[in-house]
Amino acid sequence: MNDYKNKDFLKQNLMGPNVIMLAEEALKHSPVGSAERVLDLGCGTGLSSMCLAEHSQATVYAMDLWIHATENYKRFSDFGFDKRIMPVHADANDMPFADEYFDAVYSFDSYHYFGRNDEYLDKHLAPLVKKGGSIVICIPGLKQELDYLPDEMALSWTKEAIDTIRSLDYWKEVFTKSKMTEISSITEMDCYEESWQDWLETDNPYAVSDRPAMEAGAGKYMNLICAVIKRI
Ligand SMILES: C[S@@+](CC[C@H](N)C(=O)[O-])C[C@H]1O[C@@H](n2cnc3c(N)ncnc32)[C@H](O)[C@@H]1O
Repeated sequence: MNDYKNKDFLKQNLMGPNVIMLAEEALKHSPVGSAERVLDLGCGTGLSSMCLAEHSQATVYAMDLWIHATENYKRFSDFGFDKRIMPVHADANDMPFADEYFDAVYSFDSYHYFGRNDEYLDKHLAPLVKKGGSIVICIPGLKQELDYLPDEMALSWTKEAIDTIRSLDYWKEVFTKSKMTEISSITEMDCYEESWQDWLETDNPYAVSDRPAMEAGAGKYMNLICAVIKRI
């Protein structure tokens, strides 16, 4: 069942830093435990959804916008997860789920696209989680806020293109505004370098265009951030 972790398959399906590493580290911070329903928010190709299913007894709802449900359903079927994972095509700003439906939400390398404002968490996500449940958010970040674009970074990105990448303090401030949740922990992730290395070795055109910046040392400004947030 865990063939989905084989290097060739991952190389073809990664959409950013190796999400299996992100998921496995996040699961150490906040295990699925006895959760019955888990949302993988912005699951992309669903690699993390398979990892969440493998590490739990839960039904995993694999929701994404850019990757269609049919494509993910095929992947889940190929690895024998089709009865455990429900693929859903939806926008994080308009999710088709009942309030207090999920015991836990995990979101890898996607929350920064839609959650970068003070309202998102309480308006769209927290209501879907049972009181006492958890929201685990892993995102690419900056070691500290930058008001200019360092030369190394400019080799691959414009300031606008990486506007979504923010510091741990920035995210702490955003999450602290929530009245429906409290932060349990927010830390830099250990898998930062290794997960980026796996991504840069893929032939994905985005990885290829990330290479000049990372080879020039842009990585020293960046990190991966993991926030564990409790629904109150
Ligand atoms: C860089 S990819 C990461 C995918 C996957 N989580 C991973 O780490 O491999 C970012 C993902 O965020 C998702 N995303 C961005 N905006 C979204 C939105 N408004 N609603 C749902 N998903 C969104 C995209 O569909 C995309 O799959």
